[in-house]
Amino acid sequence: MADGGARRDGTALEDLLDGSGGAAHPIGAPTALQDHPSQQPATPVIELLRVSKTYTTGSITFEALRGVDLRIDQGEYVAIMGPSGSGKSTLMNILGCLDVLTTGTYRLAGEDVSELDEVDLAHIRNRRIGFVFQQFNLLPALSAWRNVELPLVYAGVPSAERKARAMDALSRVGLADRTANRPGELSGGQQQRVAVARALVSDPDLILADEPTGNLDSHSTADVLALFDELHEAGRTVVLITHELEVAERARRMVRVRDGLVLSDTDPDEHLGAHADAAGRPQDGGRR
Ligand SMILES: Nc1ncnc2c1ncn2[C@@H]1O[C@H](COP(=O)(O)OP(=O)(O)OP(=O)(O)O)[C@@H](O)[C@H]1O
Ligand SMILES: [Mg+2]
Repeated sequence: MADGGARRDGTALEDLLDGSGGAAHPIGAPTALQDHPSQQPATPVIELLRVSKTYTTGSITFEALRGVDLRIDQGEYVAIMGPSGSGKSTLMNILGCLDVLTTGTYRLAGEDVSELDEVDLAHIRNRRIGFVFQQFNLLPALSAWRNVELPLVYAGVPSAERKARAMDALSRVGLADRTANRPGELSGGQQQRVAVARALVSDPDLILADEPTGNLDSHSTADVLALFDELHEAGRTVVLITHELEVAERARRMVRVRDGLVLSDTDPDEHLGAHADAAGRPQDGGRR
């Protein structure tokens, strides 16, 4: 999908989920989200302080992140944008405790996770973060609900409760009638909705999505983005990584990354300005 071709179709799923009668609204138009006070006391979920990440391959080192400061508060919906190779996935891996930073500090929900070992990181990851990936990352041999219950298996939740919560999460993403199907029996958009249900089921502090619509057609993209809107409206903290402007514009805040640095960071009001400046000129509105 090309930049500037922003579209926001009302779909049956979107209507179902937003429960507002389903009128599609253009990007930037007032929505229910804006009824929430934007200046409420903020609790940080993510605090990155001067974070760097250096990859070493043989004798070659590459500094993929070069001193990133970033704070994301509870309930924010943030898109991280940037061109290929700018460090988005590197940043996502650190935010998601899938990889460790080289220097700097990362506090997740107030807990310093900069120096944790693999075992502790895995524990934090399972407890605090729900992931959605471009490739869905579902287990092909398992039914939808078995996939969704997996984070709860790792968390030691009893099986009856796991099943009930998995079923509930699947109905929240509009898949109550597909719980027994395996991923191969579902469309791409449906598979990604299963992945969103899996990300939700453990009630995480943070939902992290890396190019969640990268493999979807425009209709399924609209479905999945409507789901993220819904999560945001329900008070979830959502961080979405994308290189598509039309996807990023759905978020309430846009962080642009380039060459391992944060280039710009816009709040919702500036974001509306950013839409007018869709030519891609960087916005200088330092947010904090
Ligand atoms: N494991 C690794 N070892 C060495 N270099 C790496 C490694 N992973 C990433 N890099 C380099 O770090 C830089 C940032 O990579 P990253 O995957 O974070 O980019 P990206 O912004 O996610 O790009 P894309 O939009 O293509 O997914 C790139 O130059 C990449 O080649
Ligand atoms: Mg990437």
